[in-house]
Amino acid sequence: MNLLDGTGPVMNDQDQMLKTAQAEFAAATTPADLENAKARFLGKSGLVTELLKGMAALPVEQKKTRGAEINVLKAGIEAALTARRQALADAELALQLKAEALDVSLPGRQRGSGGLHPITRAMARIEAIFGSMGFDVADGPEIENDWFNFTALNTPADHPARSMHDTFYVENGHVLRTHTSPMQIRYAVQHVKRHAGLIAAGQAMPEIRVIAPGRTYRVDSDATHSPMFHQVEGLWVGTNISFKDLKSVYVNFLQQFFETTEMEIRFRPSYFPFTEPSAEIDMMFATGPLKGRWLEVSGAGQVHPQVIRNMGLDPETYIGFAFGSGIDRLAMLRYGVSDLRQFFDGDLRFLAQFQ
Ligand code: DAH
Repeated sequence: MNLLDGTGPVMNDQDQMLKTAQAEFAAATTPADLENAKARFLGKSGLVTELLKGMAALPVEQKKTRGAEINVLKAGIEAALTARRQALADAELALQLKAEALDVSLPGRQRGSGGLHPITRAMARIEAIFGSMGFDVADGPEIENDWFNFTALNTPADHPARSMHDTFYVENGHVLRTHTSPMQIRYAVQHVKRHAGLIAAGQAMPEIRVIAPGRTYRVDSDATHSPMFHQVEGLWVGTNISFKDLKSVYVNFLQQFFETTEMEIRFRPSYFPFTEPSAEIDMMFATGPLKGRWLEVSGAGQVHPQVIRNMGLDPETYIGFAFGSGIDRLAMLRYGVSDLRQFFDGDLRFLAQFQ
């Protein structure tokens, strides 16, 4: 039996060839395989093409039926090819869809709601409380010069606070401010300038009543110290502002900040170059986990006459008090945080607790 010479039991041979083609197409698993298989049947020297060429040798009367048979075969093979092409394309599409599958049952991505840092919240509380007592809120540079950070605050050149060991000096004798106290001078000088007319006329200027919260820097790092930390400076200067006023303002502040009057507050004698007399303010909670321990919360004192002079005022006329408190410390006490560094690690698990 010869498929190619146009003789023999052609119907069976054609059925056989169609079956072979279908089997080869089915075995092709890629479009390239399939095109190769197609070429073996329908290509220039493919089996079907050879059959058609073989017709040339047939007598005229057989050509018609033979031609029709071969066309039926050819149509069958083409149909099988088309079906297989479609099947391969479908399979490819199905694979692609699977790879790119979307689980529409998953919850959508949400924009997380942000919140205020606990130190920012503590600052806002402090500003609101002192604001309610008539204090202005001032802001100033974190890179200070020698005059404002030390000299104007009556801190002599050999004072330990100027030591390279705990101070970040930058170029040209500038320093990252070691406390917010320079704001006392900056604010007072502006205030005095603004009221120069009154002062020149021998009249009393309006009182200076200000707080200045902000970042401060020292070479220090452990559970209760960070090289960058926060202070709030307070200053109240007038013609008859006394230690008694300092006490009432500060006690009122602590009671409002901690939302309790269940505490003891003491003023312990201390020393600062820019105040005389000076005190350290300690507090002790009467209840809660910190109950019974004296906690240091602020330095304070009556503004030193030399500092009053450096503000451009006459210490015979003007007198007042100042204080400088650690905001981080106050926030730690208020929120029950035991390691100061957690405030600045940026760990959302910690920070999210304050929202
Ligand atoms: N500047 C001081 C410090 O950082 C704190 C301080 C003490 C500020 C007494 C004051 C004050 O205004 O009167 O240690």
